[in-house]
Amino acid sequence: MSSHVSAPKIQHNYLCTICLISAITLALIGCGDEGTLSMNGDIETEVDIFTKREWAVIQRLSPLPEVPPPSPTNRFADNPDAALLGQKFFFDERFSIDATVSCATCHSPFYGFADVEATSLGVDRGTRNAPTLLNVAYNQWHFWDGRADSLWAQALIALEGEKEQAGTRLQYTHLIKNLYRKDYEVVFGPLPNLVNTDRFPPNGKPGDPQFDNMSEADKIAVNTVFANIGKAIEAYERLLISRNAPFDQYVAGDMNAISIEAKRGLKLFIGKGFCILCHDTPSFTDNEFHNLGVPQGKFPEDTGRYDGIKQLLDSPFNGGGIYSDDPDVPQRILNFLEPTQQHQGQFKTPTLRNVALTAPYFHTGEFPTLRSIIEFNNAGGVPNGFVGMREGTLEPLELNEQEVQDLVAFLLTLTGELSSEHLLREPELP
Ligand code: HEC
Ligand code: HEC
Repeated sequence: MSSHVSAPKIQHNYLCTICLISAITLALIGCGDEGTLSMNGDIETEVDIFTKREWAVIQRLSPLPEVPPPSPTNRFADNPDAALLGQKFFFDERFSIDATVSCATCHSPFYGFADVEATSLGVDRGTRNAPTLLNVAYNQWHFWDGRADSLWAQALIALEGEKEQAGTRLQYTHLIKNLYRKDYEVVFGPLPNLVNTDRFPPNGKPGDPQFDNMSEADKIAVNTVFANIGKAIEAYERLLISRNAPFDQYVAGDMNAISIEAKRGLKLFIGKGFCILCHDTPSFTDNEFHNLGVPQGKFPEDTGRYDGIKQLLDSPFNGGGIYSDDPDVPQRILNFLEPTQQHQGQFKTPTLRNVALTAPYFHTGEFPTLRSIIEFNNAGGVPNGFVGMREGTLEPLELNEQEVQDLVAFLLTLTGELSSEHLLREPELP
């Protein structure tokens, strides 16, 4: 095993997908030096299954680094007190228009922090499937369309989203004052003086006269509290890490950690199935957006990344804005972004870690099982019912029945362990 011990690094390769894809293609095709893999010499099957080159590709998928990449736009991202507070916010249904919906309503700890329903029911029914929050801090973009570039900004969209929690930032700011003042101030410093309800009405967000008529300085004060709510939630989400899946144990040297079917599935994953073209890092996503031609089914047309870029650029809470704790680098990334026709119907490559826990699948939630996804890929997609142009590389895979089953068996080996029990439970709320 000595020749393959180096730990792969998580790659945020949004600017370099092309070089990466060519590197992988080279690795897949191989240029000389094929040779078969000899593990410690005691497991015959591995020698038959993977070449050295394939094993090198596999090692780029494991382990998942112990800590997610830093989040410089949130200086509270790794503050334990902020995380504890964020966990309370996450489970507290009072953070919604009628005190009935919390983040956990749709991201249930019992279902891998995803939703068993195809599309989620918050205050109203949405049109997209709720992704898992396990390992979410390893992602560069958030939402299927990437309209948030940080976890804290993502949370703010859910808190005010009409189909999600549908409350307002003024409501939440008063909630903090009434219920969470002490805990909040320990982490973030003094709240603004909210006593005067002419200056700080009990309810309102941009678009509502109560908010729009406030002074600029008071709006910024409220937005800052609102952003801090998101920053606390991010600190909690950063702890939702799930590593050491059977697949990782296998790559680390436990040859019996996964079945022979799963090993064959892994070979297809990095080879004939071309899955590795997009699911190519330890969190099994290239942090990019693609149009697979997933049919919209009964849902309205969804332009995906195209609208996502517009909303991201328009948001005062993006990483380049005044509520960001480190705007320079994010602003440079935002400067590159511009919605074009090519972005129509593109959706984010989701992580595949814990995918066995998070059915149903795809952005529409209309694919009930892992098998249904593989069959979709195997057929090279379906001819119609989607927005924009399907990516040119998607061809029928010609996998036989056994190969379809093997790929499913591999995906089932990606279910990891959660770091601590206490993160799954609703904490005591004030
Ligand atoms: C009504 C159900 C619902 C509620 C409530 C809800 N979410 Fe979500 N969440 C979703 C759906 C659906 C998506 C995908 C929507 C999209 O991509 O447009 C999503 C996406 C996300 C994502 C992006 C994940 C990814 O991989 O892109 C994060 C992070 C997240 N939610 C966290 C939260 C937090 C934190 C809260 C509470 C402040 C919350 N959600 C409240 C349903 C919900
Ligand atoms: C061209 C890039 C690309 C390739 C190749 C690719 N995927 Fe994906 N995968 C995606 C994207 C993008 C999505 C989300 C699509 C959507 O919802 O519109 C996705 C979604 C999925 C999902 C659903 C996950 C969820 O949480 O909803 C699974 C499972 C999956 N892919 C497995 C595979 C397997 C197995 C292969 C190889 C047979 C593969 N993918 C090949 C990009 C790719």
